[in-house]
Amino acid sequence: MKSTEKFYWGASTSAFQVEGGFDLGGKGVATTDVRNVPEGIADNRVASDHFHHWKEDIRLMAELGLSLYRFSFNWTRIMGDGKRVNLEGIAFYNQIIDECLKYGITPFPTLYHFEMPQHLIDDYGGWKSRECINDFVNYARICFEAFGDRIKMWGTINEQMIAVAAKDLNGNHNVSEEQGMKDMYQMSYHMSLAEKMAIRLFRTLVPDGKIGPVCSMQVVYAETSSPEDVQAAKDAQDFLQNCFLDMSVFGRYPKSYTRYLEEQGWFPKVEVGDDEVLTTNRPDLIGINYYCSTCIRAKKTSDDSLKLPPFYRNELFTLGNNQYLEKTKWMEFGIDPKGLYTGMRDVYERYHLPMIVTENGLAYSDVVEDGRINDDYRIDYLEKHIAQCERFVADGYPLLGYSTWSFLDLVSSHQGFIKRYGLVYVDRTDTDLKECARIPKKSYYWYQEKIKHSNI
Ligand code: BG6
Repeated sequence: MKSTEKFYWGASTSAFQVEGGFDLGGKGVATTDVRNVPEGIADNRVASDHFHHWKEDIRLMAELGLSLYRFSFNWTRIMGDGKRVNLEGIAFYNQIIDECLKYGITPFPTLYHFEMPQHLIDDYGGWKSRECINDFVNYARICFEAFGDRIKMWGTINEQMIAVAAKDLNGNHNVSEEQGMKDMYQMSYHMSLAEKMAIRLFRTLVPDGKIGPVCSMQVVYAETSSPEDVQAAKDAQDFLQNCFLDMSVFGRYPKSYTRYLEEQGWFPKVEVGDDEVLTTNRPDLIGINYYCSTCIRAKKTSDDSLKLPPFYRNELFTLGNNQYLEKTKWMEFGIDPKGLYTGMRDVYERYHLPMIVTENGLAYSDVVEDGRINDDYRIDYLEKHIAQCERFVADGYPLLGYSTWSFLDLVSSHQGFIKRYGLVYVDRTDTDLKECARIPKKSYYWYQEKIKHSNI
């Protein structure tokens, strides 16, 4: 069924994973520029060298037929030390925005996609401090003022769960496990406040724009139908998703989550007046990142949660195994297209906001054969996931668009360049930069046809 609203067909990247030019154009030092990357794995200094290839990249986007480009601003390109404006950085993004608009591609930036100025970590500990809220809101203001005349659709924070849990992204190293947990919940609280204050500012500076968080959508299944596993799955849903989105939309945490954090001594410090900021300033949309569903079971005393990501470190739930999903080397949780539909339905029923798929894609170590990349496995993944979006739209839910991860190969969040997601191959390896030449993959041409003949 053809929707009457414009449906955006997009592709996504993020600044630190694609740009490179880590010390060019007045850019300051980001947490991701100085993190410890193991020998033999690509770092973010050159990445996909989009800094030098941006014009060619946007031309490839136009030839693909994209109507949306989802990317992010690098805070340290716009404000090197997190405080002073770098006009060269503003000019860099102006070129990108104007080039997109020239081709009729809607630029859709996220303000905060994982990296941040190292200076703010050294100065006061980054998000651990309330000072970071003011600096973030100031950065948001600069972005709204510089680009808000042409950009009307914005993301605030990308995957808050990962942003606060991954120490090499938020710079919160060298603390004990217990202090690390307290810090993580405090940082998350500060980020939520910062997001709300940025939205408040947005209403005055870009009154005709739309803005919202980008979540790592959690489609949580219980490993068995035992009441313990089912309850564990509910707890996991609170810890892995609801605590972020409930804050973004309603300005409060789920109740059982709140009580658990209080019992552990992990509940963040709040100040008088926060509540007012949090419960107002609602977003207009929700960005959905989805790669696969998650399987959860009740925690046993013998389970060691220290091996799991920080939001799993509690007594309530642990990671289970979904025997029904096909798994691959890089998609170790499996492949679950139906989960995309199920998850978005739940998000809509809880928040009643329009959504846009901001990330969805398949990781694979693609190889070039006779100058071609025949990534049929990726086409299969995209086709099945897009079919679930079509079903969602046909059901009448408000889905604004679909943007695949990623437009071109880029540095994975922590697994280098061998793990590729792009529609466009970037000719470099983890250890050999070569020329970073662009080669559209078979999936690029498939997506081009899909967009051309889409019925939504
Ligand atoms: C999302 C992030 O978590 O997943 C991206 O927003 C990331 O930045 C993507 O690259 C895929 O994860 P990974 O770890 O394979 O790069």
